[in-house]
Amino acid sequence: MRLSDCHNIDDFRKLAKARLPWPVFDYIDGAADDELTKARNTSAFDNVDLVPDVLAGVGKIDTSCTIMGRKSALPLMLSPTALQRAFHRDGERAVALAAEKFGLWFGISSLATHSIEEIAGLTSGPKLFQLYVHKDKGLNASMIERCQESGFDALALTVDTIVSGKRERCLRSVFTTPPRFSASSLWSYATRPYWTLNYIFSPKFRLPNLDGHVQEGTGKAVSIQDYFNTMLDTNMDWDTAARIRQDWGGTFCLKGVMSAADGRRAVEIGADAIMISNHGGRQLDGSRAPFDQLQEIVDAVGGEIEIICDGGVRRGTHVLKSLAMGATAASGGRLYLYALAAAGQEGVERALAILQDEIERGMRLMGVTNVQELTRDRLRWR
Ligand code: FNR
Ligand code: LAC
Repeated sequence: MRLSDCHNIDDFRKLAKARLPWPVFDYIDGAADDELTKARNTSAFDNVDLVPDVLAGVGKIDTSCTIMGRKSALPLMLSPTALQRAFHRDGERAVALAAEKFGLWFGISSLATHSIEEIAGLTSGPKLFQLYVHKDKGLNASMIERCQESGFDALALTVDTIVSGKRERCLRSVFTTPPRFSASSLWSYATRPYWTLNYIFSPKFRLPNLDGHVQEGTGKAVSIQDYFNTMLDTNMDWDTAARIRQDWGGTFCLKGVMSAADGRRAVEIGADAIMISNHGGRQLDGSRAPFDQLQEIVDAVGGEIEIICDGGVRRGTHVLKSLAMGATAASGGRLYLYALAAAGQEGVERALAILQDEIERGMRLMGVTNVQELTRDRLRWR
């Protein structure tokens, strides 16, 4: 299978599976427990049908919108994901450059493998920094200050990882950051020479936003599950979030809100946006899908705060359904990660071009000329 054989996001998943050692692929593809929520995140979109209008004059359409004060060419954001140089040697650099080329927001994780400063210097496109609140308060302050100095456009505080989900595939593969070749997976690395040689001959793997304060993840190999459960602040609460919003002082988003009541709390502390998200099913298996929850949250706080539907998006029509339901935009991680892992920046650009094409085609067939025309009366529940 080659990159030119990829015509949808699932094709990229197949190509990534063929090219990556299985511990690395399973870290991306895997989720918590029985992975029911990960599956539901995508199948939830099948519960509603789009009702098109025809003869609407769609020769010229505008797919753009404004998200958190920045123009976006599509109502789609690239969500922050960790350890990207474990997937491809160019990591977050490749994603940042592809996002800029398509005029899209992207985010880097606290556990990014390129630094805040490097990414900020790379592109002028809208970028967010995703903050994990660590026990080390000096580290938290340092990341916020570095983002302020580097001119990041928004800070996204992730609030759904107070403890780690049970990542059973990673327990079996003994996947760690930095990646280590375990006896059980050595053969897999040996049979993926392209990935393995790239990893061996690339600059030392590190987490540059963290390793000035902690060695876990860079000098000391740990699983993500152990990293979350030992390094992150399990006492984080709404006062913490309000204080971080104050300290940051810029555009502020809460990532991982799933209840209408928490949506209301986010408005009360002055957040600019919420990402309705269950972390791609990687945290609480059995929790509701973002798209299933979207209507309730839009009805509760829509118009008072921007609402981004995060997770399960694999098609342009998933984005259109999210907007019709009332979201400001949709976002995702695997929708670009499979492509990154399989083929670097070229892969991500191909994936974004496919999603752009699907969004444009979907709007035309829906009979809409701009995203504001995507309203709830264009949906019918099955
Ligand atoms: C993630 N996600 C994530 N979220 C976050 O706030 N900080 C992080 O460091 C990461 N890291 C990460 C790594 C990998 C491999 C994946 C797949 C996901 C969650 C991510 O931002 C997003 O919420 C989900 O990926 C959305 O689900 P989909 O689009 O992958 O189905
Ligand atoms: C994950 C963490 C890093 O989901 O957010 O793997």
